[in-house]
This record gives sequence, C-alpha cells and structure tokens, in this order.
Amino acid sequence: MAEKKRHTVTAALPYANGPIHIGHLAGVYVPADIYVRYLRSKGEDVLFVCGSDEHGVPITLRAKKEGRTPQEIVDIYHQQIKQSFEDFGMSFDIYSRTSSPTHHKTAGEYFTTMLEKGCFVKKDGEQYYDEQAGQFLADRYIVGTCPRCSFDGAYGDQCEKCGATLSPEELIGPRSALSGDQPVKKKTSHWYIPLNEYEDWLKEWIIEGHKKDWKVNVYGQCKSWIDQGLQPRAVTRDLDWGVEVPLEEAKGKVLYVWFDAPIGYISATKDWATEQGKDWEKYWKSEDTKLVHFIGKDNIVFHCIIFPAMLKAHGDYVLPENVPANEFMNLEGEKISTSRNWAVWLHEYLEEFPDQQDVLRYTICANAPETKDNDFTWKDFQARNNSELAAILGNFIKRAVDFTIKNFDGQVPEKGEYFDPEKELEQRVKDAPGKIGMALESYKFREALTLLMEVARAGNKYLADTEPWKVIKEDKARAGAIMNMALQTVANIVILAEPFLPFTVKRIREMLNVEPLTWPHAGNLELLTTGHQLGESGVLFKQIEDESIALQVKKLEDTKAENRADDGQESYEPIKGEINFDDFLKLDIRVGEIINAEKMPKSKKLLKLLIDIGSEKRTVLSGIAEHYSPEEVIGQQVSVIVNLAPRKMMGIESQGMVLMGEDHKNIRFLKPDVKIKNGSIVR
Ligand code: MF3
Ligand code: ZN
Repeated sequence: MAEKKRHTVTAALPYANGPIHIGHLAGVYVPADIYVRYLRSKGEDVLFVCGSDEHGVPITLRAKKEGRTPQEIVDIYHQQIKQSFEDFGMSFDIYSRTSSPTHHKTAGEYFTTMLEKGCFVKKDGEQYYDEQAGQFLADRYIVGTCPRCSFDGAYGDQCEKCGATLSPEELIGPRSALSGDQPVKKKTSHWYIPLNEYEDWLKEWIIEGHKKDWKVNVYGQCKSWIDQGLQPRAVTRDLDWGVEVPLEEAKGKVLYVWFDAPIGYISATKDWATEQGKDWEKYWKSEDTKLVHFIGKDNIVFHCIIFPAMLKAHGDYVLPENVPANEFMNLEGEKISTSRNWAVWLHEYLEEFPDQQDVLRYTICANAPETKDNDFTWKDFQARNNSELAAILGNFIKRAVDFTIKNFDGQVPEKGEYFDPEKELEQRVKDAPGKIGMALESYKFREALTLLMEVARAGNKYLADTEPWKVIKEDKARAGAIMNMALQTVANIVILAEPFLPFTVKRIREMLNVEPLTWPHAGNLELLTTGHQLGESGVLFKQIEDESIALQVKKLEDTKAENRADDGQESYEPIKGEINFDDFLKLDIRVGEIINAEKMPKSKKLLKLLIDIGSEKRTVLSGIAEHYSPEEVIGQQVSVIVNLAPRKMMGIESQGMVLMGEDHKNIRFLKPDVKIKNGSIVR
C-alpha cells in the first residue's frame, strides 16, 4: 500500500446523554489516541477529530425524564465528556459538537447535495404514532418484543440484547416509550437512501477490496450484512430535535441522527481548520489522505456501509481506508450499562485514583477487546499496576536514575565497551520501534504494548545480570558504562511509551531532564550525552493496596443489590452464626444524644459526633455524612455501643459506635420513639 501524505483519524462521537466510562475508552478512545500519538511522533501530518453526538432519541427521552430541554441535557454532558477526555489525555485536535451552527449547516448542505444529485427516494407510508403524545414514534420512542431473541425491551431501531438492527414494524407488541400506549398508524413521508443500489459496489469495495486489511470482526459483520441484502433506509424523521431537513415540504422533520452524526466528523474538521487557518478539504477530499474511523462494534454498519454509501453518493469525499472497530469491554463479567449504573465512570475513577490515568489506560490497552469481548476486573487492574507497571517499568527506571544520582552525581556516565549483556539489550532496543510501529499500524495495540513492556523487562534483566551495585566496588568505569546503557534504554522508553502512557512519560522526562523525543530517534543508544545532568528521581507507580480495590468491588456489589431491588428481586444478607445470651450481654448499648456534629475534613463519609451518654460525653466518628448533614443530627437521640474498643480514624479516636438501620439506599438512626433519659440501657 502506497504511503499517504496525511491522516484523518476520527473517534466515534459519543452521545451527550451520560458520562464516559471505561467501556468507551476500551472500545474506541484509548486505541485511537495511541494510534494518533504514534503517528504524530513519527512526524506524520495527522488530524484527530471527535465531538459530542447531540441528537437522537436517547437524548430527548432523557430530557423528558429529567424535566429539562434536550439542549440543557447536551450542554451538561458535552462539558463533562469533554473534561473526561482531557483528563485522560485524549489528544484530539478538536472536540466539537453536533448542535453547533457549523454542523447544522454542513449536514443540511450535505443532504441538499445528495438530493440534487438524485440520491434519495421519497416514500409515502404509514408510521407508528402516539395519539396521546401527539408524536410519531421513531427509533427509541417505540419499544416491544424482539422478533429474533424475544427480549421484551427492544427498540424500534435495535435490540440491545441480541444486537439485531430492527425496524418498528418488526417489533412484536409495540408500545410507545412516551405513554406506554399501543400506537396507531399514521401517514407520513420520508427520504430514503436506497442502500440496495450500493450492494454491488459494497461487495467490490469491502468483500473483495478489504478482505485482507480489515479486522476479522469488522469484515465479518459487513459481509453478513451485505450477504443478507440491503434495504433502503430512511434518513429523515418526524421529530423536533435534530438538524432540520432543508426542504419546504419537509417542515417539522429532521435528519436521522445516523445521517447527521458522521457528518459531524467533517463539521469538526471545518471548525478546526477555521481555528488553525488550515484547509479542511485536503483532510477529506484529497486522494492522498488516509481516513481511519475508530469505533465500537455497535457502530460497524454505520461506518462501513451507510456512511461510506453517503460519501460515495456525494462524490467529493475519500472513503475510509480502515475501520478498526473493537468489541466490547465488560465489567466484572457483566455487560456495561449506563442505565443500570454498571460501569466505572471516568470522573469517579479520577476521584479515587487521582493522577493515575495511565494505570487505567494501560489496563484497558493490555485487555483491549480487539478480537472478542473482554473483561475488566479490579483485581486485574491492581495486578497490572503492581506487578507490571510498578514492578517492571517503574522499577527499572527508578533503579537506573537512583543509582546514577547516588554514585555519579546524577550525571550520565561515559559509554563503555559492549559485552554480551549490552549487545543483547542493544538488539532489543534497536528492534523495538520497528516492531511496535508495525503492530500499531496494523491496529494490534495489545501486542504493541507487550513489546514495549519487553523493553522494560529486558532493562531490568540487564541490571540483574550486570549487577552494577557490586561492580562499582571494584570498577567504577564499568558501573558507569552499565548506567549509560540503562539510561539510554530509559530514554528510548520515553519515545516508545509516549503513545500509551503520556502522563508517565512526562514524569520520566522530568527524571531524565530531557525534552520530548520523537519516534525517528528511537533505537538510538546515544540519546543522552555523557555528563548530561539528570533531574530528580520519583516513584512512577504507587502500589495499589487491597483496601482500595475492595472499596471498588464493594461499590459494584452495592450497585448489583440496588439493581436487584429495582428488579423486585430483593436479596438478604445471610443470617450470622448463633451466639448465646452471654455473648449478647457483653454488648453495652446506651441511648445517647448528639450534642455536636461536624464534617470530618477530607472525608466524604465521616461525621464527627459528640454524644452525651448520661455519665459522660463521647466522640464518635460515624460514616453517615452522605445521609445526614451535621445540622440535622444535632439534638437527635441515638443508640450507641459504648464498650467497643476505641478506634483511631484519620487521626481521631472514635469512642463508640452509633447503631444504624441500613438498606442499599438509606442509612437511618435506630432510636427511641420518644425522648428518654440519656444513658438508658438498650436491651
Ligand atoms: N453516538 C454514537 C454512539 O455512541 C456514535 C456516533 S459516531 C458518528 O454509538 F459517526 F456518528 F459520529
Ligand atoms: Zn433481540
């Protein structure tokens, strides 16, 4: 394949109807960002676009549910999503949105061009209508039983259970998502793109043309679609949220979200070009542009069949050269679900693991669902950090830097003669950029990451084999030469790791005291000059303790319990083993009155209470801050275990425990129903 002059890389535009979770990162954004960072490091001309997908029924439904306007919803989530992407180092050249004026204009004009070229077929027909809501029921406004898998919650456009693409007519027992009513049929007309007319071309372009270079999962889905025969697909909808159809006779209609959203990539490019004073057209229309779409598997048909058909129909645009879609990332064995809160949300992750974006980027890449669905587990996350990032990568770099600081005043010692260990490591370092690059260019991100870690592993082995801490006692020059070799390897890691671990690489650069280095320099073992002064050492990856993992697992268990309760399948904790009456009598429980309360600084959960138990006053820390404010608890009587051994938390001794009744949602005091004397015994 001839090399292209420039790259346009797109990452699927996420719906602005909820925050971003690890599934998004794993499916689309981490691989896309790695790919782009690599190309940039190589010195390629690359444009990386993304933005929020702000139309579509899920957004209007969410707005309705929350009593807000669709615009309010997308404003909230656009900001939040944009922030999460920034926080995780997604290096988009622009993060745009489809409610922008540029996009409305671009999408409208795109429709007009296709219309004028005669690319649409207008059809009059009947469609489901909700009389109570006074609205046509497109896509997700209509639900029913899936004709393929019998799941009773399939939408008018898709069954999320089995993945089938549906039309509302196929649903068994259709009902309105707005009123729950049975819909009626009403006349309407729509514009269709006759996909059937593109079948021959798609066969040639994909089935014959991309058999070798597209991923098996992507190719397979496309082939099965095309083999089943393609149907005309409506590109307009009777809705009031979206890009208005630019036609007098189509008043009150908008473009189908899957028609306008991919055009969002083009609109984003225009906005970027305006900002940067560049020519947007080259990135979409020039034959020497390589267009690549990063998406999740549920987007394959739209990016491999419908959007290419639109590009082809329009005529001015290049087609995607590859669409490296990933499969799904599950969480602890279950499908990630926004509505069931079964996810690790990026903004929450950062609260709990601040500055540890790269640990998540790494875990996600190492487990990327490249060829099949894969699972994210917190245990694996911990192991990846502790026994790979910290024990291999972090350890190697810290040893090289620390030893040089301690024994050579932090100055890069002189290079020495190469013996077997040096030759072995040299070979590894020299081969790495080519091998990693090749893996990345064929969208094998896991393999690329493994190759990177092998360099760090080889570095560690080199230090273990050469034992500079022993050598230095007899031969300082040789120990210096070993350090030179190790530090040159670290400098190479700065280049090779940047696409994967950009935050860590910044810290490594500070330790080495070097400016950014780029891919063409990789493989060179003289990147650091003799005498170069290193910066300060530091810990690149902190150990992740069992407690913080247990906390995450607990959080998911709570979610599970809540979901079960919502499904009407309440579950109960098993009853504990029997105790005798004497055991019970050992507990000293009293009625006490909270006479003061304040929030514990730096703690989300804890309130610091002062409780009058009659004979004395006790300080008690209680994990109720998310359920009670300090003001509302003062003056309340509660039950307190007063003979529990005191426990220190966050520097303060807690001298008792307040008894609470607790379900998955609420934590409430267990208290006397009328006021009684403080210090009264509970039994
Ligand atoms: N919003 C879609 C989703 O989250 C993806 C849109 S990609 C684009 O599944 F091409 F349409 F922009
Ligand atoms: Zn189904």
